Amino acid sequence: MSDKNEIITLITGADKGIGFETAQALGQKGQHVLIGARNQERGEKAVKQLEAAGVKADFIQLDVTDKAQIKTAADKIKTDYGYLSILINNAGIAMDHHQPASQLSTDTIRQDFDVNYFGLIDVTQAMIPLLKAGKPAKIINVASNMGSMGLASDPNSRFYKVNSLGYQSSKASVNFATIIFSKELAADDITVNSVNPGWTATGFGGRPEDAPAPAGMQDVATGAAQIIKMASLPQGDKTTGTFTENAGTLPW
Ligand SMILES: NC(=O)c1ccc[n+]([C@@H]2O[C@H](COP(=O)([O-])OP(=O)(O)OC[C@H]3O[C@@H](n4cnc5c(N)ncnc54)[C@H](OP(=O)(O)O)[C@@H]3O)[C@@H](O)[C@H]2O)c1
Repeated sequence: MSDKNEIITLITGADKGIGFETAQALGQKGQHVLIGARNQERGEKAVKQLEAAGVKADFIQLDVTDKAQIKTAADKIKTDYGYLSILINNAGIAMDHHQPASQLSTDTIRQDFDVNYFGLIDVTQAMIPLLKAGKPAKIINVASNMGSMGLASDPNSRFYKVNSLGYQSSKASVNFATIIFSKELAADDITVNSVNPGWTATGFGGRPEDAPAPAGMQDVATGAAQIIKMASLPQGDKTTGTFTENAGTLPW
């Protein structure tokens, strides 16, 4: 059991990319990071790397599409720490690759939703009792500018011509979850906010991780910066129900 002065932060999909970068930065600020990963080998490797950098980190096996594993993870966190301070729903995939909506199979759209939306909901619901035990607490949902309906419907936006129905609608749904959960959980001292990392040089969507970044693609530290900022707000800060990126507030 941890004493409640310790900020305990669970990050899903934290074995690499933006999740790992976020874990490293928050760990270096003194948070105790729980590295959620579906792959045990990659998760444990990430923990070793973080420990070598002086970060307090533990591995939690967590495939966000596996309800039994989510329950086991919540039970383990309850036994080992007793509470959670911050949940960062970061795990995400993009299985569609800009096919016209008229040709995109719902099988593909469902894959996007299973991880990005239903996985996020299942993890959030399972962790709420632990967040209540650790309140004031925070949930940060990693959304995307691709999921902004305001940008997608604005002819002056560069997202107007973007066409990825599965990924975009799953991330728009993440934003809706942020709005609804932020209202329900306000009375429990739990804030809920969405963050857009922006186009970032990770292995996301099958991109080779070591490929040179094209113009306009950010490095991972920049992609993680707004998540780190939101997770570093003092516990008890009342900011809730927002959708932000490094440059400021985004339209839903
Ligand atoms: N990179 C961008 O340009 C960009 C832009 C906007 C938003 N985002 C969002 O940022 C988040 C992080 O993406 P990233 O760029 O860091 O991509 P990434 O390097 O591909 O990392 C994605 C993480 O999600 C994990 N994951 C996938 N399916 C999972 C599942 N079923 N259960 C648990 N974990 C699962 C992956 O685990 P494995 O290692 O097992 O695959 C990996 O750890 C995503 O939500 C993404 O939508 C990214």
